[in-house]
Amino acid sequence: MAMPTKLYTLCSLVLAFLFPFSNSVQLDEGKLCLPEKHASLFIFGDSLYDPGNNNYINTTTGLQANFGPYGETFFKYPTGRFSDGRLVSDFIAEYAKLPLITPYLHPGYHSYIDGANFASAGAGALVETLQGYVIDLKTQLGFFKNLASLFRKKLGDAETKTFLGRSVYLINIGSNDYATNSSLLQSISQQEFVDMVIGNLTTVIKEIYKEGGRKFGFVSVPPLGCVPFARALKPGNTGACFEELTALAELHNAAFPKVLQKLERRLNGFRYSFADVYTSFSESINNPSKYGFKEGKIACCGSGPYRGIQSCGGKRSVKEYELCENASDHIFFDNAHLSERANQQLAKLMWSGTSNITAPYNLKALFEL
Ligand SMILES: *[C@@H]1O[C@H](CO)[C@@H](O)[C@H](O)[C@H]1NC(C)=O
Ligand SMILES: *[C@@H]1O[C@H](CO)[C@@H](O)[C@H](O)[C@H]1NC(C)=O
Ligand SMILES: *[C@@H]1O[C@H](CO)[C@@H](O)[C@H](O)[C@H]1NC(C)=O
Ligand SMILES: *[C@@H]1O[C@H](CO)[C@@H](O)[C@H](O)[C@H]1NC(C)=O
Ligand SMILES: *[C@@H]1O[C@H](CO)[C@@H](O)[C@H](O)[C@H]1NC(C)=O
Repeated sequence: MAMPTKLYTLCSLVLAFLFPFSNSVQLDEGKLCLPEKHASLFIFGDSLYDPGNNNYINTTTGLQANFGPYGETFFKYPTGRFSDGRLVSDFIAEYAKLPLITPYLHPGYHSYIDGANFASAGAGALVETLQGYVIDLKTQLGFFKNLASLFRKKLGDAETKTFLGRSVYLINIGSNDYATNSSLLQSISQQEFVDMVIGNLTTVIKEIYKEGGRKFGFVSVPPLGCVPFARALKPGNTGACFEELTALAELHNAAFPKVLQKLERRLNGFRYSFADVYTSFSESINNPSKYGFKEGKIACCGSGPYRGIQSCGGKRSVKEYELCENASDHIFFDNAHLSERANQQLAKLMWSGTSNITAPYNLKALFEL
């Protein structure tokens, strides 16, 4: 029976991934075929987006969150997400009417038609950042390239191009480079450090573009020095932010939008969303009650000043930890990561933020393009 080619090839892709050993599955238009305008979501980055890829690599418990109380609010079990519940990327998938995007490394899951999530807690744009313990951005790109060539085999070049061109690429990277490798500043300047990180990120964007990616979503680097672990580094526990760290974030946020504007001019069809979470984040940690939180400095889970010691769950070197009553009261869930409620607010800014925060497109507009 003849079917429109487009529909047929997308159906066969779904079938091939769902039933890799079966050639005799009947195509069922109603159940398995995708609407023509299906836009998938491919996710790259660090713990802000990692749904549990680090559960499947050889790393340290410091870079894993596969134990309670992580996950307690929404999932009711630890998934590997560094939060009490869903991450920003989970909310974006939800708003885009996609299912939660499974970790790429999850064994036995091979249906990539809604996209894939390559993010790894601790990852940086520089290969050396926490090297050996994370899936760095370059390796994440390698995974994506493998997937793209699989798509080309199943769908053909033209169909893959359309499919990847409709998809949205969410990327968040940089915080770990700046937060874990300040020793680099003994040999290079702050600006050179930032240029290295952005240079690597730019290379990865261009490579995704080469594979067919056109719609990209980015966020600025948050005020890193105001995260509980960084506040706790400040002598005297005055509550002050660790400004040296925030300075790197500011330099990054000044330079990266210029790079994006340049890419938009040079790469035909390149469209992007850049959400200034630095500004909105600074606002909310300074005025938590305005955003429905009771606490903007102290984490929900951890120990020491601001619960800035990474002990949440008691599975790392420090075994004792405190846990707040209601994670939704806190902006930070642990010493370096947001509560589900804060993640949701961030996701909303990225999805439907007005143009003074999220520009030139918000993610909703990008998905609809
Ligand atoms: C995992 O890491 C540990 C410690 O670094 C090492 O001893 C072990 O051989 C590694 N295992 C694998 C499978 O790479
Ligand atoms: C990124 O930076 C590192 C140096 O830290 C370099 O070895 C690597 O090849 C660079 N490029 C990419 C795309 O990651
Ligand atoms: C920091 O970067 C340097 C050079 O890129 C690298 O040799 C070192 O291992 C990195 N340190 C950490 C902690 O990531
Ligand atoms: C936690 O706080 C949120 C926001 O204030 C509230 O909606 C929720 O009902 C609280 N949950 C519990 C278990 O008290
Ligand atoms: C952005 O604009 C909205 C209304 O359009 C306003 O409520 C909000 O305060 C503005 N935010 C900033 C950071 O300027």
